Amino acid sequence: MKQRKDISRIAVFTSGGDAPGMNAAVRAVTRAALAHQLEVYGIKRGYQGMIENDFVKLEAGDVSGIMHLGGTFLQTARSKEFRTHEGRKKAFENLKNHQIDGVVVIGGDGSFAGALAFTQEFDIPFVGIPGTIDNDMYGTDYTIGYDTALNTVVEAVDKIKDTANSHGRIFFIEVMGREAGALALKAGLACGAEVTFIPEIQNEEEELEKFLTKDYKNKQRSGIVMVAEGDRAGGALKLAEKVQKNHPEIDVRVTILGHIQRGGSPSANDRVAATQMGVAAIDALLNNQINVMIGMKNNKIVHVPFSNEVKTNREFNADLLKIQQLINSAY
Ligand code: F6P
Repeated sequence: MKQRKDISRIAVFTSGGDAPGMNAAVRAVTRAALAHQLEVYGIKRGYQGMIENDFVKLEAGDVSGIMHLGGTFLQTARSKEFRTHEGRKKAFENLKNHQIDGVVVIGGDGSFAGALAFTQEFDIPFVGIPGTIDNDMYGTDYTIGYDTALNTVVEAVDKIKDTANSHGRIFFIEVMGREAGALALKAGLACGAEVTFIPEIQNEEEELEKFLTKDYKNKQRSGIVMVAEGDRAGGALKLAEKVQKNHPEIDVRVTILGHIQRGGSPSANDRVAATQMGVAAIDALLNNQINVMIGMKNNKIVHVPFSNEVKTNREFNADLLKIQQLINSAY
């Protein structure tokens, strides 16, 4: 494909919930762009900073020493103003004033919905890099931050299991995932949970009841129930309350892991994926593959057009639940 000659200055920013590995992605985008003789600007505080003209010039040294840090040094935001045409127009004018020819956005589905709306109205191309601990993006097997968050959950639950075993208690662990169960699903498998509750399916209460009545006898066993925060049962607290009411003899505890899952030094996998995707984003811009999200499918880089269908078309690995059920049915 013919390389675009009209791109000489790009901007990069992080948007939505932060995710470990975002810094590594900004570093890769910046360094790849500079390697192609492009100039680079960072935009602080996501779309809100774009609207408020918060741009900083980035050189190679500005992104050194950040790869191993969690969070995002550019900071992030969820901008209500960018959801309006007026907000996007202000953002466009600021990009134009900085002579930005292409933009790389690192974030989740809300960030790409913003990019889609913008690119339908204005003629500055965008490329997206999926960065969210939820791993819930359509068209990619992997999102930056997921692997780190998963390991954070596993480390925490391993500690909880020590005390759960000592007391023969059932712990309800709530992990992030307002609309998606990918984190809970893998965390459930990795921690040997008895049951996992996720927003995508509904019949886990039966499964839990089976465990409580058949397998959990006289506190000889403890148990972990993994709950995605967005599960239709209403989260770990509500579920635990219900169980406690129906089974007053069972010793129940709840741990909501919360934002600890969003922080921490990114895992090697997240750093590598962020670097691959950052380089691929600049390649895409230069090769006129624009208004797409960079994804990873079967370990290969793919380009997924921004679309409003991303939420409805999300894939979900139901096999993992079947595996969990099989493993637990041995009791
Ligand atoms: O989108 C990622 C996510 O971690 C969700 O799983 C979670 O519900 C949400 O962000 C919470 O974000 P915040 O506290 O920033 O509103």
